[in-house]
Amino acid sequence: MMQDAVLSGKTALIIGASSGIGLSTANLFAEAGAKVHAAARRPEAIRAGAGDRPVTPHALDISDGEAVRRTVEEVGESDGIDVLVVAAGMNFPERRLEQLTPEKWDAMLSVNLSGAFYAVHAALPYLRASRGLCVLISSVSGRWPDASGPAYQSSKAGMTELAHAAGFEEHQNGVRFTAVLPGIVDTPILDNRPEPPPKEVRDAALKPEDVAQACFFLATLPPHAYVPELVMVPTALQALGKTSIATPPMRSGE
Ligand SMILES: NC(=O)c1ccc[n+]([C@@H]2O[C@H](COP(=O)([O-])OP(=O)(O)OC[C@H]3O[C@@H](n4cnc5c(N)ncnc54)[C@H](OP(=O)(O)O)[C@@H]3O)[C@@H](O)[C@H]2O)c1
Repeated sequence: MMQDAVLSGKTALIIGASSGIGLSTANLFAEAGAKVHAAARRPEAIRAGAGDRPVTPHALDISDGEAVRRTVEEVGESDGIDVLVVAAGMNFPERRLEQLTPEKWDAMLSVNLSGAFYAVHAALPYLRASRGLCVLISSVSGRWPDASGPAYQSSKAGMTELAHAAGFEEHQNGVRFTAVLPGIVDTPILDNRPEPPPKEVRDAALKPEDVAQACFFLATLPPHAYVPELVMVPTALQALGKTSIATPPMRSGE
């Protein structure tokens, strides 16, 4: 869907933008006139997914704190940062407590939680300068128990609280931090489930464009309006606190 150029003059940095929610958000923001910097480990996938939209790809592993700082500073020093969206995230197929190892735990937390901290921390001076917005794509899986696994759930609970705490500290500097908590979204991350969901569940799930629209809504609010948290679930599958439906089984919010 084409948006009016309501984001023209704004710069967005979107991390985790080579597929799914991050890529949809990058494309939507670019269509709305923003200057978009998009980062992930696969910049070629960003390029392919953005097509001829004005999106600048960056190769970045968000678990590398120094690399995150360099990329954020490169973008911030050249264009400033009005909106930071952290959509980088992962899960393992072997996710049950008995299957996790300290190495897997550390790997998950370093991407899903420490990576978000690295990005937020490095971007803070630029967000203060622009009185900008930071959106962390967390998950309902950090809010209630489901089958996405203790490491993933812990990382997402931490990410939500990172947004809350940062917003608590920074709102008087004009910086807004929003935790977006989607339920199940039909993206490639679902392929990593031990049993990837069947077509009827994917069909009823949220689409990445839905979550991108939520990010767009947040980015177009007037600066005096602050949404600390936004929960979005697929109508036919989930409700607040409900992660299971009778048929077909729907156990995880990812
Ligand atoms: N789909 C769902 O049901 C759902 C529900 C709630 C929340 N979420 C969250 O939404 C976020 C986006 O996921 P998605 O559903 O859009 O899945 P996705 O299509 O698999 O996207 C994940 C993105 O994260 C990037 N990423 C993964 N590891 C990275 C790393 N080490 N450094 C930099 N980027 C990395 C991937 O890019 P590269 O592989 O190129 O690095 C990709 O762009 C994740 O945080 C996920 O936990 C998803």
